[in-house]
Amino acid sequence: MYRCMLRSVCSGGRVCPALVPPPTQSPSWMLRNTTEERHHRLAEQCSVRCMSSAARRPRALHSAFPVLEQPLQSIHQHVYEANLRNSNACHKRYIELLEKARKGGGEKAIARHTQRNRKLLVRDRLRLLLDDEDFLELSPLAGLGLPYGDISSAGCLTGIGRINDLWCVFIAMDATVKGGTAYPITVKKQLRAQEIALQNRLPCVYLVDSGGAFLPLQSEIFPDKNQGGRTFYNEAIMSAMKIPQVSVVCGSCTAGGAYIPTMAEETVIVHRIGTIFLAGPPLVKAATGEEVTPEDLGGARLHAEVSGCVDHFAFDEKEAYDCARNIVSTLNFQLPEEEEEDEEKTRKRKAEEEPLYSSEELLGLAPECYNSSLDVKMVVGRLTDGSRFQEFKARYGTTLVTGFAKIHGNLVGIVANNGELSYQAALKGSHFVQLCDQRDVPLLFFQNTAPTAGLTLSTTQAEMNSNRLKAQGSMMSAVACASVPKITVVIGGCHGADSYAMCGSAFDPNFLFLWPNARVSMIAPGHAGSLLPLDSESEEEKKKEEDELNRRLMEESSAFFSSGRLWDDGVILPQDTRKVLGDCLDIIKQQQYQLSTEKRQSALLRI
Ligand code: COA
Repeated sequence: MYRCMLRSVCSGGRVCPALVPPPTQSPSWMLRNTTEERHHRLAEQCSVRCMSSAARRPRALHSAFPVLEQPLQSIHQHVYEANLRNSNACHKRYIELLEKARKGGGEKAIARHTQRNRKLLVRDRLRLLLDDEDFLELSPLAGLGLPYGDISSAGCLTGIGRINDLWCVFIAMDATVKGGTAYPITVKKQLRAQEIALQNRLPCVYLVDSGGAFLPLQSEIFPDKNQGGRTFYNEAIMSAMKIPQVSVVCGSCTAGGAYIPTMAEETVIVHRIGTIFLAGPPLVKAATGEEVTPEDLGGARLHAEVSGCVDHFAFDEKEAYDCARNIVSTLNFQLPEEEEEDEEKTRKRKAEEEPLYSSEELLGLAPECYNSSLDVKMVVGRLTDGSRFQEFKARYGTTLVTGFAKIHGNLVGIVANNGELSYQAALKGSHFVQLCDQRDVPLLFFQNTAPTAGLTLSTTQAEMNSNRLKAQGSMMSAVACASVPKITVVIGGCHGADSYAMCGSAFDPNFLFLWPNARVSMIAPGHAGSLLPLDSESEEEKKKEEDELNRRLMEESSAFFSSGRLWDDGVILPQDTRKVLGDCLDIIKQQQYQLSTEKRQSALLRI
């Protein structure tokens, strides 16, 4: 049931005749930008609310998808156990890296931050900002293992959490990592978080505590399109698209860092902690010889009382996050009221929703390598509501599994690799993706693509490869042009062109996650031979080159190597996948509750 926003124009259960909804409604996640559509939507909400108490709630069509009977059997045992051993080793590495990332800039920097600078640590800040600790952290391992060192959390935490029940993206700099300065990977992480906010129309909250660019790497941060300035460009574009942005100045905002709060729509600054200036006191001294305190140069009082760069003054951090939460409550979203449910009903509903098989079994289904892949329907059956799945084209192109299911009550179309993406499989994939687009059903891709390049050793094979190429090209077009939300989970291999058709990163999925066992590379480790040219090199030299390439492929294809470079939105554990997917689908849906989405001519200008 929705709350009424148009009490003044409708009463007594009558629907305003000027605002009758059109016969077909746009899907909830599509941007609704025209005035007409906005009115239709308001009318729709209004009409629902204004019906008498006897009004019926809209009901989804009843579905009784078949249950996927996919128990583990003794025939699977050998592969299952090998996968399980690999998953356990990957899990151990994942925990080690996570702990490393959570240490931020190390003990000395933490002491300087909390004791000398009297600031809260970034996770404590999030605790005060968000409703609870159950947030979706994005790319927590980004920044680890880079050529220029380990940059914990890439110097800033990003994710999606609830503020007053509203999902918001947060971008929170961690000043214990080199004073919160921006490395190239920091910029990339911030841009990806903004992209997610843009694509899913999520409000964005910035916690700014940054010394600007990390100067030794300035050439990789400053000039190019997707570098430093893009953050500010995005702020303007997001504002024009009515994607709200709020910032809290909870530390230094120097140089580039100064534009983030100044360009946000509403900004709070913390007394004695927050400062905003293009150049700090040391530069002033060097240029003019004048000694000035940070507070006098660009402190909270100056910006709240004189410059107007900020809108709210807070005496301490707690007050600042309370203030940010209050700002979020004015963003004009109307979330649906929670349905009242007694304990027994909740328990029954949850029991019905749960898959029939334990999610822990996914650890033994996560393939160690392509050859250890078991039937992907075993994975699907451990993720969907009640292990139910309505398969599409079950007997055609069987190396791709397609069909409908529900995840936490959300209808989705599933596209899952179950072998090579053959000609028939790709045709089927194209058809199914277009079908979901036609019906406005979000798509979930479970990716486990083939490790080798297609060799052409005969005319028949050449013909097969050409047909496959055509069909894969069609599937890529269908995926690229589908306007429904797309979520990709790499459950095994992400190799070569097959991965594009399966909505790899270049195909703009709303979210892309990896399982810790995943391998991401042009070609899988062990298959380097097919990439090397057939020239006159001696066998020995060729073997050496092949071994070296395979070693590099092994190292560079790990999920952690990928996530460190932010080629994805993070490594997630197989057993957490259902929860993450449920959250993502919930997050994507939220935009339908924003009441004002009509694009403005320009961004909101501060003064
Ligand atoms: N580039 C590279 N390193 C920087 C840096 C920058 N812009 N700003 C700070 N650092 C480093 C410091 O050298 C120090 O490194 P260390 O831990 O290895 O000694 C670390 O970040 C923390 O800086 P420090 O000054 O000790 O901490 P602080 O909490 O007292 O102050 C700042 C943090 C950001 C306020 C302060 O360092 C500062 O004003 N930096 C200059 C900012 C600037 O002029 N930026 C211009 C960018 S275009």
